[in-house]
Amino acid sequence: MLGLVAGAGVVAAPAAAAAPTTVHSTGFETGTDGWFGRGDAAVAVSTDEARTGEASLAVTGRSQNWHGAGLDARPFMPAGQYTIEGWVKLPAGAGSDQVSLSVARTPEGGAASYDSVAYQVAVSDGGWTKLSGSYEFAGGVSQLEPYFESPDATQDFFLDDVTIVGEAAAPQEPGTVAPLATDFEDGLQGWGPRGDALVERTTSDAHSGSASLLATNRLQNWQGPAIDVTRNLAVGQTVQVTVWAKLAPGQGSASLRASIQRDRGTQTNYENIGGASAVVTDAEWTRLRGTYTLGAPIDSAQLYVEGDAGKSFLIDDVTVAPFAETPIQDVPALQDVLGAQGFEHVGVAIDSRETVGRAAQLVTKHYGAITPENDGKPEVVQPTEGTFDFTNLDRLLDFADATGTDVYGHVLAWHSQTPAWFFRDGDRNLTSSPADQAILRARLEAHIKGIADHIDARYPDGDSPIWAWDVVNEVIADGDNANPHDMRDSRWFQVLGEQFVDEAFRLADRYFPEAELFINDYNTEMPEKRADYLDLVRSLIQRDVPIDGVGHQVHVDFARPVEWVGDSLAGVERLSAETGRPLLQAITELDVSDSKENNGADVSNGTVPQHSPAYADDADAAAELGYYWRDLFEVFRDHSDSLESVTVWGISNARSWLRTWPAARPWEQPTPFDDDLQVTPAYWGIVDPSRLPARPADVSPPRIAAKDPVLATSTGVTGAEVTYTPPVTGDTRDGAIVPTCDTPSGALFPIGTTTVTCTATDRAGNVATPGRFDVVVTPPATTTRLYQQINNGPVVRANAKQTVQLVVQFGNRGKGVLLGDTFQYSCTQTAGAPMSLELAPGSARQVGNRDYPAGQNANFTLRGKPTQVGTASFDCTLSMTDALGAPVTATTSVTIDVRK
Ligand code: XIL
Repeated sequence: MLGLVAGAGVVAAPAAAAAPTTVHSTGFETGTDGWFGRGDAAVAVSTDEARTGEASLAVTGRSQNWHGAGLDARPFMPAGQYTIEGWVKLPAGAGSDQVSLSVARTPEGGAASYDSVAYQVAVSDGGWTKLSGSYEFAGGVSQLEPYFESPDATQDFFLDDVTIVGEAAAPQEPGTVAPLATDFEDGLQGWGPRGDALVERTTSDAHSGSASLLATNRLQNWQGPAIDVTRNLAVGQTVQVTVWAKLAPGQGSASLRASIQRDRGTQTNYENIGGASAVVTDAEWTRLRGTYTLGAPIDSAQLYVEGDAGKSFLIDDVTVAPFAETPIQDVPALQDVLGAQGFEHVGVAIDSRETVGRAAQLVTKHYGAITPENDGKPEVVQPTEGTFDFTNLDRLLDFADATGTDVYGHVLAWHSQTPAWFFRDGDRNLTSSPADQAILRARLEAHIKGIADHIDARYPDGDSPIWAWDVVNEVIADGDNANPHDMRDSRWFQVLGEQFVDEAFRLADRYFPEAELFINDYNTEMPEKRADYLDLVRSLIQRDVPIDGVGHQVHVDFARPVEWVGDSLAGVERLSAETGRPLLQAITELDVSDSKENNGADVSNGTVPQHSPAYADDADAAAELGYYWRDLFEVFRDHSDSLESVTVWGISNARSWLRTWPAARPWEQPTPFDDDLQVTPAYWGIVDPSRLPARPADVSPPRIAAKDPVLATSTGVTGAEVTYTPPVTGDTRDGAIVPTCDTPSGALFPIGTTTVTCTATDRAGNVATPGRFDVVVTPPATTTRLYQQINNGPVVRANAKQTVQLVVQFGNRGKGVLLGDTFQYSCTQTAGAPMSLELAPGSARQVGNRDYPAGQNANFTLRGKPTQVGTASFDCTLSMTDALGAPVTATTSVTIDVRK
């Protein structure tokens, strides 16, 4: 591969065509959507036939070839390349005929031409036929009219599911993108409150001039100042957004970010402005700056500033202006380099913003696959029960379909980003009762089926771009718990138990028979979680669950030893060999954090700032990341036989979720492309490590993996000598390390729980965060049987004011040995006039002097002095320990009948 790269200069790519977006799409469900009858033809919505949904467009009354259904496409088809598609069926009894798809185009001041897109395609009354073709034109037109016609002048037909996918780099309405600049010098200038927030112009502080905007009463994260930016955005046009922000006096610090809300019809989407987030303080003005590309048509859009709830803040000098992104570079495509090394799918997580403009160029150049970053999640696809919304997902599928990109579906069943209604029945939480389980199972099926039905309708021949699905995501907990395989205690698990995994796979297999079905999780490279993960997969195989593959998210940080990733890939390969079940593997969400701490990717964790940069200098971090990516891909290559797919989580560093999760982390550089879509050392680490910059000093300490408790059985009262394997310890640069543990393996561990603390230091002197695990020593079940008897009976006669002596007989009727020196005895009065009953000290000493093997017995004396006539009752407990340390007790009751 290296030869391919040698000498490859970093030159600007030719101004490539912008990537496709859907500019028109109708199923005629709610009207004719702009389609009209050409010539004598009449068009009307009809429910007589429908390819999808309930309705199609009936085209009748034609009297010439060119009569048919037409559409004025000038408003949304700027110059460029398109794919136009529509489905046609003839009325019942009409047999077969031909229909053509053409575009009537008239250049400004010129003569009309009739361009063919799909010519005389055979259609029939027996089924729907797709007419599609590509269409390109240079612009400057006074007419642009796609239309469906037939060489048979009087043939009626039905038309359904028309889409026009293509260029949208030009603004929707050319000339309407206006720059925005607000400085609050003379008022709020269009800004207003969002939610409960209050906003006011203030002269108490300003970034420039004498005024700024103060936002207070922010009850929730998303509340704050907002402004309409509908006229400042256009599909495919990248803008740069700058906001100066400062917390109000006394507010300390908070994570703030700038975001966009875009609205279209009934749909609302919220998108962070990539790069525009930071930790902001009350001490100085901080710039939030990023770029944003509108990926889909809008009715309206708002820019807003949000962040940690409760914090009041100031903003000033906000600008939104068209931004010229640097052209993407002429460097080897990741999909070519990795494809040649045996990786079938090389993908990236995206949303609609990456289906337009330069980001789309980068996607199609470097990646042959995409994963919907959020648009396939339950909360997006089925926000309320029974109401599916495929707007966002379809946009990505259209893009994939039009560009020959594969799609990795994410995700059918997950605990996060899943609406609460899934797990509720009205106001009630579902329980694990059979009736509630049936409700949740039905919902799981309806969800999976709903998605499958939609996709099958759009891709009727089974040629959907989706090659794989994450069927379940993140079902294993990070630590040790009481569930089988340490399964996550999610609502799915609470209601359905482990079976929900089986159920999800069986349903996915039924409804997506063509797709590869994956389980997916993060931290699968962590030795402890790996064991649980493989354990669950083994059980699924044993239960013959239709699982095809094992996904590893690989949200890692550059101090996490790459060997651990290799060990997990090898573990799955071994499991596959051992069970005889072929298992694919996928790296599903790759990104590498350069934060010091390592908190995994548990999205249910809070938003407390937990991270800080490992290197003060971002260039050092980038270089070190380059070496990490190099080593990681070395490991991946070693497993390319089973590793079917590698997907990077985010098109660029600016668009990575790590920049805002769980708090602002502006230093993060988690992907191979920088904020401006240019290659980084991480890219060269994959493609040509000889181009990496010099490696900076090693600042990453070794990692000590978590370890499940070591369980042992005592071999004596002092505990047991326990040998253990120390926690797996590795270092990014030094590889495996043997840690030093305060209580060494083989030492005597007392009965009970002992926490062992281990430490490790790498060659550069970096000291690991100590690792801790428990050694739990429990005695085996005792084989002794302790008995006791008092004075041969439960009632003892005594006289008031005279000392009474009781003789207690005890012994060992079982096997094993009771230890005399562990002898203890006490009586608690349960009824009657107060009196004391105590062990005679001498007799206690005697019985404690020897041990009690099987059959051995002895006696001792109790003394009391009754003062009152009546009966006094006691419970007396003898407790001892057997020779292996197990506590043994025997309790008996005695009543003292006191007379005069
Ligand atoms: C993340 C997205 O990247 C964010 O945009 C979103 O706010 C939260 O989810 N594991 C997963 C992904 O399986 O779906 C998560 O994606 C990251 C962790």
